[in-house]
Amino acid sequence: MAQCNGCLKDNTKGFCSSCEAILFDRSKVTPQLKFNWEDISKKIDGQPMGFSISGVQRKGFIGKPRGKELVAKMDLNEKSQYIIKPMLSRLNSPDQSPANEHVTMQMAKQLFNIRIAECAFMNFANGTPAYLTKRFDYDVNGGKLNQEDFVSVLKAGNKYASKTYQDVGEWLSPLNRVDFLRILIFNFLTGNGDVHLKNISLLETADGDMMLSPSYDLMNTKIHLSDNSLALNLFKEFEQTNLPLGEKYRYTKEDFIEFGNRLKIKATNITRIIDLFAKKEGAVFAMIDKSFLTDNAKELYKNNVVENNKAFWQSKRFVISNL
Ligand SMILES: Nc1ncnc2c1ncn2[C@@H]1O[C@H](COP(=O)(O)OP(=O)(O)OP(=O)(O)O)[C@@H](O)[C@H]1O
Ligand SMILES: [Mg+2]
Ligand SMILES: [Zn+2]
Repeated sequence: MAQCNGCLKDNTKGFCSSCEAILFDRSKVTPQLKFNWEDISKKIDGQPMGFSISGVQRKGFIGKPRGKELVAKMDLNEKSQYIIKPMLSRLNSPDQSPANEHVTMQMAKQLFNIRIAECAFMNFANGTPAYLTKRFDYDVNGGKLNQEDFVSVLKAGNKYASKTYQDVGEWLSPLNRVDFLRILIFNFLTGNGDVHLKNISLLETADGDMMLSPSYDLMNTKIHLSDNSLALNLFKEFEQTNLPLGEKYRYTKEDFIEFGNRLKIKATNITRIIDLFAKKEGAVFAMIDKSFLTDNAKELYKNNVVENNKAFWQSKRFVISNL
C-alpha cells in the first residue's frame, strides 16, 4: 500500500485516521476528487477579481458540506474551508509542484516543528495532481480571523520591496522571533527562494492579538526555476547593496546566528535552533523518498538539499566578508 495523502505515513490508502481528524473533522474523504480544475477555473475566469486570495499561482476554493464529499465552491463570496492549487501552468516540471509543496510542508511540520497550514496531496478526476490546504483564517465557529501579510504590515508597496527579513523580524513578538528564525533556516535548506513579503503573515488569535500565522507556500522553488536562495536579504544594511548577480544571499549558519542576535533571541535558543537542523539530512531524504514526487524530482530535491547544507554549515560569515 501507499503513503497517506496527508502525513505520508506508510501503508495507508488515502488518508490515515489522524489526518482525517486534522483535515476533515473525522469524515472519510478520498484524495481522488470528483471534479477537474477546469470546472473551477471556468467559473473563476468569468468572475471579476473579487477573489480575496492573492498570489500568482492559480487557485480555487473548496467546501465540504457535512457528511458529503469535497465540492468546488462556485460562489466566491461564500465561505470555503479549503484552498486548492492545481499544478503550475509554466516553468520547469510544472506537474511536480503539488507534490513539492506537500512534502515541503510536511517536512516543516514533522521534522522541524513549524506550525503549518494543514495540507494534502490530491488528484483531480482526470488524474492531474493538486495541492489542498485547510484555511486557517476561520475560527472554530466559522468566524473570519483577520490576516495581514507583511506587504501591508511594513507598508511596503510590493512583495519584493526593499525590505529585509530583519525588518519583518523586528515586528514580531519574542516568541514569534524564535519561530521565524527556524522558518527562515528551513526555507534556506529546502531551497525556497520565494519567501517574499506576501508569504509571511500575521493572523489574529482568539485573544485578538496579531501573531505569526501558520506557514504556507513552502516549497523547493529550485525544482521549477533557478533563483536566489532567499527572496529577501537578511540584514538591513544589505537593503541597498547591489552585489553581482549570483553573489547574493550566500549565507551560512553564522549569518543566521547573527540574525538571531540582532532579533535579541537568547543565545541558548539560537543554539537550540541551529542544532535542530544538524544531522537531519537522513530524515529529510527519507521524507522526500516517501513523497508523491517523481524519482527525477526527488533526485533534484535531494541534490539541492545537499548543496544548501554544504553552504549552511560553513563557519565563515557572508556578511562580514562581503561588505
Ligand atoms: N491555508 C490557508 N489559509 C488561509 N489563507 C491562506 C492559506 N494558504 C494560503 N493562504 C493565503 O493565500 C495567499 C496565496 O497563497 P499561496 O501563497 O500559497 O499562493 P501562491 O499563489 O503560491 O503565492 P505566490 O504568489 O507566493 O506564488 C497567501 O498569501 C495567504 O494569504
Ligand atoms: Mg504565496
Ligand atoms: Zn496521515
